[in-house]
Amino acid sequence: MSMNIKDILNKMTIEEKIGQLLQLIPSFYKEASEGEITGPLKAAKLDEKILWNTGSVLGIANAEDMIEIQKKYMENNRHKIPLIFMADVIHGYRTIFPVPLGLSCSWNISLVKKTAEIAAKEAALSGVQVTFSPMVDLVRDPRWGRVMESTGEDTYLNSLFAKAMVEGYQGNLNEECNIAACVKHFAAYGAPEGGREYNTVDISNRNLRENHLPAYKAGVDAGAEMVMTSFNIIDGVPSTCNSKLLRDILRSEWGFDGVVISDWTSVDELINHGVAEDGREAAKKAMEAGVDIEMMSINYVNNLKSLIEDGEISEKLIDDAVLRILSLKNKLGLFENPFRSSSIKESEETCCCEEHLKIAREAAGSSMVLLKNDGVLPLNKERKIALIGPFADEKNILGPWSIYGKPEETVSVLEGFLEKLPKERIIRVKGCDVASQDTSLFKDAIAAAEKADVIVLALGEEESMSGEAGSRADIRLPGVQEKLIHTLSKLNKPMVIVMFNGRPLEITGWYQEASAILEAWFPGTEGGHAVADILFGDRNPSGRLSMSFPYSVGQVPVYYNHFNTGRPYVKGENSRYSSKYLDIPNEPLYPFGYGLGYSEFEYSDLELSSEYMSKGESIRAFLMLKNIGEMEGIETVQLYLRDVAADVARPVKELKAFKQIRLKAGEEKRVEFEIDEEMLKYHDLQGNFKAQKGKFILSVGGDSSKVLWKSFKLI
Ligand code: NOJ
Repeated sequence: MSMNIKDILNKMTIEEKIGQLLQLIPSFYKEASEGEITGPLKAAKLDEKILWNTGSVLGIANAEDMIEIQKKYMENNRHKIPLIFMADVIHGYRTIFPVPLGLSCSWNISLVKKTAEIAAKEAALSGVQVTFSPMVDLVRDPRWGRVMESTGEDTYLNSLFAKAMVEGYQGNLNEECNIAACVKHFAAYGAPEGGREYNTVDISNRNLRENHLPAYKAGVDAGAEMVMTSFNIIDGVPSTCNSKLLRDILRSEWGFDGVVISDWTSVDELINHGVAEDGREAAKKAMEAGVDIEMMSINYVNNLKSLIEDGEISEKLIDDAVLRILSLKNKLGLFENPFRSSSIKESEETCCCEEHLKIAREAAGSSMVLLKNDGVLPLNKERKIALIGPFADEKNILGPWSIYGKPEETVSVLEGFLEKLPKERIIRVKGCDVASQDTSLFKDAIAAAEKADVIVLALGEEESMSGEAGSRADIRLPGVQEKLIHTLSKLNKPMVIVMFNGRPLEITGWYQEASAILEAWFPGTEGGHAVADILFGDRNPSGRLSMSFPYSVGQVPVYYNHFNTGRPYVKGENSRYSSKYLDIPNEPLYPFGYGLGYSEFEYSDLELSSEYMSKGESIRAFLMLKNIGEMEGIETVQLYLRDVAADVARPVKELKAFKQIRLKAGEEKRVEFEIDEEMLKYHDLQGNFKAQKGKFILSVGGDSSKVLWKSFKLI
């Protein structure tokens, strides 16, 4: 049964309607339910009437909280319109998976979808009905702390993950196990100047259309119920009042009919941006542009009524927004059951259950990227290991967005090691803190290393060093960690470095001293198990970078699908007047798509079914792939295309397809791709998305830099 929401709307006063457009945090209700209005309520000058008309809440603590607040609310709301509870469930609810940047390095779309399904189930049982995820912002600057929450630098990969995550969260919106998804941050939040959080975005329309918008559209096409605006301006206009973005592109062009929400106080921030003189103008602009819910500021509540009375905006705008919100509540079944599937008991039984932990271990293992290995890995279980570093026995490896995850339920590296070998074979010392300048623990580290056959150094960034408001200008390992590497490398023992961090780091100052480097990101609840699985060879690493590792922060932004320029630098040619740096290479240290495993794969015999593709038809590419290693493994075969000459300059290569192939040691397989006209399209000068006749280069390989190639022509 579903509600006739138009009937409800017709009975609502204007104040009640405007209330639906406000979103608050739970603390407002906790105070009110204790019968006294202090703190945020008073500070925000809200009276209790507003509270019982408010449409939604963000960041509920658990099922118990949700049930208590909803109960109280339903007793007080005149029309019995339930609250809707939203939260940041970004990479898991209580079973925490790797941060999204890590997850994306798995290149495993169905696995990532599965993690979203699990997150949705745990969240739904715990009182959450909407997650503010997926974040699909394209990122090219590792100084920006929120790269950890993204799926990397590639439009195509971002779009696949956007779709998978929306589908994983939402399913068929079944009460027991699904929640609604909110695609964010619309748009281009991932391109702040200088990588500085909340900073200006100034990009061309072409860049916006080709690189940034497709992933949001993929999320919308997958049926996302909500979209969140971004904090930034584009071409001078903040997203939160950008009707070109919100009305023309999102609603008219893409047909989105779900709910648009501002980001936290971003309606208020229109004043700081300098596009609104006061809260009244901010409310008017945001409402006109199509923002339905105002998160955590009260310009709508304070001004919309008088704006309507003064004839400055039409009540129809408010009615439309309210209908969209009521319709979402209706779809989620809240009118029938305001508590939906929240259950303290079931949430306890389901969160971190065995099945979920199993997927968390798989996801963590799949997300880790082996950056270097001179042969020391996999480690021999018979050898004595000095396990050193601030992350050697650290349970805070969940990542900055793991609000509901519990460090005490997390497996540290030491615990992972203890599952594999007796404690007598491990000497664990801290060596140093993450960020302090204190080197007094170095002597313990040296003593431990001297007694061992192999050093495993677990280093990284504190969780708060990435994520929202986590921009860094210096993206090297903080504190004295690099010094610790230099100190221990003097002992001339094999040294494996495992990194826990939320962004690609600049590791050029020490990577040559390491025998092996494993990028573990913030791997989540099962992190320590996954690290041990890989280091001891119980798992063959298969992660591939979804974002380049810069050689130097001075290169940033450095990304694989750049343009050629008029004077491209050609390796080996010593021309001063080419596009290059005098002091560092153009290439990143590790490129997009890169990652090692314990098997090696040989690519050969690339062939095309034809050197010509007729319009509307397709051709096929074939290649032979052989596992020339000694262990079964997964290879991610990547296919890139380049349009050699078009009306506008095209990137030197663009990822258009990939396949993950599992091969036993010595096994060989023919891999096939289909290339169609759709894959050759770009936005021409008139704004049409179409393919232009002429020459294309197709390349395939195990990363974006090592490739076999062939050319063909579109005729
Ligand atoms: C601000 C962040 O930018 C956004 O991603 C998040 O969903 C909201 N805060 C709500 O917590």
